[in-house]
Amino acid sequence: MRKPIMAANWKMNKTLPEAAAFAQGMADVRSLSDKVETVVCPPFTCLAAVADALTAKGIAVGAQNLYPADKGAFTGEVSPEMIRSIGCVYVILGHSERRHILGESNGFINEKIKKALEHGLIPILCVGETLEERQSGKTKEVCETQLEGSLKEIPKEAAARTVVAYEPVWAIGTGVNASVQDAQETILTVRNWFVQTYGQETAAQVRIQYGGSVKPENAAEYMSQPDIDGALVGGASLEPDSFLSIVKGAL
Ligand code: 13P
Repeated sequence: MRKPIMAANWKMNKTLPEAAAFAQGMADVRSLSDKVETVVCPPFTCLAAVADALTAKGIAVGAQNLYPADKGAFTGEVSPEMIRSIGCVYVILGHSERRHILGESNGFINEKIKKALEHGLIPILCVGETLEERQSGKTKEVCETQLEGSLKEIPKEAAARTVVAYEPVWAIGTGVNASVQDAQETILTVRNWFVQTYGQETAAQVRIQYGGSVKPENAAEYMSQPDIDGALVGGASLEPDSFLSIVKGAL
């Protein structure tokens, strides 16, 4: 059985004091941890502080990016080992904001995934189509191309550990969430790609989240679908009560 994974992506929000206030206000979720995994991904500036405070409450912490090298002359970048050394378990890679605003290619994302796995970090790989791509019937093709490019040469065991987040770009931060049926349908397409590429066993293990305007009011409905194993939440993850009620949508 796949354990649901509910993850907060804070994006470029919260100063250190604001992050500390969230950590203090967030409930201890250890009593839920048999049933749901809870993850918070803050910006780098508060990652270590949040990791210290939230790990004690049964919440795993993840980074929002990494640079695919061990160390060296990469001004402004952060290595997988640095992330790992402060207690992070996850790293979000291939988010559409990085693909579209910062021009990240599938090849570059693939390098990052390899480095993350090499250092024991679990990637949360984001895939998803733009509105234009959806309207021209390319959703399946776009997601498959992103999966193929980003997971190139990743062996079966590592692929099974990787979390995928299906995030339609048009649903991110817009309040226009994908219908539960559309999300389930595309996530099934993603799972079928894993069947074809890695076989039934791996496909049955990989956890696939939905992301895009997830809120306390709609989280449980997504979680009722057979192939949706969690949520990746932006705006509605910034307040402890709102995020906690989304986490509880997985119970
Ligand atoms: P919103 O929940 O704000 O739509 O953001 C989704 C997202 O991009 C999470 O990675």
